[in-house]
Amino acid sequence: DIQNIQDVRSLIRFIPDFPQKGILFQDIFPVFQNPKAVEFLINHIVDHITSTIKEKIDVVVGLESRGFLFAPIVALKLNSAFAPVRKEGKLPGNTINAEYKKEYGVDTFEMQEDAIKQNQNIIIIDDLIATGGTADAAGRLVKKLGGKVLEYIFVIELTELEGCKKLDAPVFSIFK
Ligand code: PRP
Ligand code: MG
Repeated sequence: DIQNIQDVRSLIRFIPDFPQKGILFQDIFPVFQNPKAVEFLINHIVDHITSTIKEKIDVVVGLESRGFLFAPIVALKLNSAFAPVRKEGKLPGNTINAEYKKEYGVDTFEMQEDAIKQNQNIIIIDDLIATGGTADAAGRLVKKLGGKVLEYIFVIELTELEGCKKLDAPVFSIFK
């Protein structure tokens, strides 16, 4: 039974040496085996937003791929739009892009130009922040489209990597 957020945390599974040797992978999919845990986690995020942010959230932005597990549900509960940030070449129509550093080489994120309008209030959601490069690229895309990032939200933060220092808006992470 899920009584509190620590019960949700206990469902995150640690997998050593995945996807490569030396990495301790944090697997959030066991949480999704338990609908009550998903509901608790989503409500935790939504309660945080509604209790700390006064502005109406216009668009919740989710980052491919694991950010897509959370952002659309949060958007639905806030009666906000959802917009995807996707890896290069996946989105049709007019897009803008931003590069970011991954462990090996550079990757590119894209957004559709009409996903955000001038001065809209935005929240960016991803499952995890490590170095912060991914979230920072998403933030740059939102700003290019004229959106205002009110907060970055992560389910897991790897605090020792200090990824939050790359970001220029407040960060809320549930599990550190
Ligand atoms: C993981 C994770 C974050 C990102 C964090 O995604 O889901 O999006 O890395 O890393 P950073 O803070 O160092 O930039 P990944 O690129 O592995 O892809 P996925 O979400 O598609 O599985
Ligand atoms: Mg990801």
